[in-house]
Amino acid sequence: MKKILIFGATGFIGRELTKYLQESNEIYVISRNPDKAKNIFNKAINIINWDFRDAKMLSEIFSSMDIIVNLAGENIAAKLWTKNQKQKILNSRTDIGKLISEAIILMKKKPELLIQASAIGYYGYNTNEKCNENSPKGKGFLAEVTKKWENSTKEIELHGVKRIIIRTGVVMGVKGGIVPKLVKPVKLFLGSNFGEGNNWISWVHIKDEIRAIDHLINNEPSKGIYNLVTSQPIQSRHLNQIIGKLLKRPIWLRIPKTILYQLFGKMAHELLLADQKVYSTKLESEGFNFLFPNAKDALEDLLKKT
Ligand SMILES: NC(=O)c1ccc[n+]([C@@H]2O[C@H](COP(=O)([O-])OP(=O)(O)OC[C@H]3O[C@@H](n4cnc5c(N)ncnc54)[C@H](OP(=O)(O)O)[C@@H]3O)[C@@H](O)[C@H]2O)c1
Repeated sequence: MKKILIFGATGFIGRELTKYLQESNEIYVISRNPDKAKNIFNKAINIINWDFRDAKMLSEIFSSMDIIVNLAGENIAAKLWTKNQKQKILNSRTDIGKLISEAIILMKKKPELLIQASAIGYYGYNTNEKCNENSPKGKGFLAEVTKKWENSTKEIELHGVKRIIIRTGVVMGVKGGIVPKLVKPVKLFLGSNFGEGNNWISWVHIKDEIRAIDHLINNEPSKGIYNLVTSQPIQSRHLNQIIGKLLKRPIWLRIPKTILYQLFGKMAHELLLADQKVYSTKLESEGFNFLFPNAKDALEDLLKKT
């Protein structure tokens, strides 16, 4: 049984991860809002108040942990990307990363592993070619953010601590992320494609996201960067078609790209219309099998719960 401390545990991915890992590990959740955390999790979870501007204090909290998982950061899709919001998206990630890194460096007996969140935005919002873990950084705001975010904890490797970076794709689940946002208008008979809907979405079912993290924690040789996506990206219009069929509703509207650009600016390019073909080459080479490799099965599983 390992002692695992999770940052960002109260979020969409973190909640599921915490509940899953709790089965066979001792879990500690560190949150800016311990009351929210207490409401989400049962009593078996230890909750630590997020009040650690100071790396020394954090290193004391870390001292009894085997593994640190860092998922924390301002949600990238919750608000319009104003200058302030973009700064918040970046700083919320790099500040925590640097603090975690400083705290680990201060420690004599260090944790064995840091799982550091990142995203496939690293490869840019318009990947003309198929990307794997060796592909170069792409262009755009999210590519810059993910690079700085990943680098914020890099130094711990020089101090002998294993680090695994999870570049996650679009996570499909019912309690957050893209699926509820797509399902809502379809249920209201307002199913629509953005532009032609030709853009490719590289995605992963929430259950596979969590299973993949568990694999990386327990598979001793795993190290470095991993894409957490299935190797069957899907075009956005096909994704909408599947949702429409499952909910027995038409997808009949088309929102022109120009309108999206005017309404959402850069966010439209990088989130709503992102065109990315990313593959989980490394994870699959380690024998990891996805429970839901294709989007139709994933959505059938998810939508039976809505
Ligand atoms: N969901 C996806 O499809 C997806 C795809 C790729 C990458 N990711 C990345 O994976 C991580 C987890 O994703 P998620 O969807 O679970 O995120 P989420 O639901 O937005 O939760 C992130 C957690 O981070 C903490 N947080 C939020 N704003 C913060 C701020 N300004 N400063 C410090 N901490 C803050 C919160 O925890 P407390 O309130 O408890 O402190 C929150 O529960 C994120 O960093 C995200 O960028 C997600």
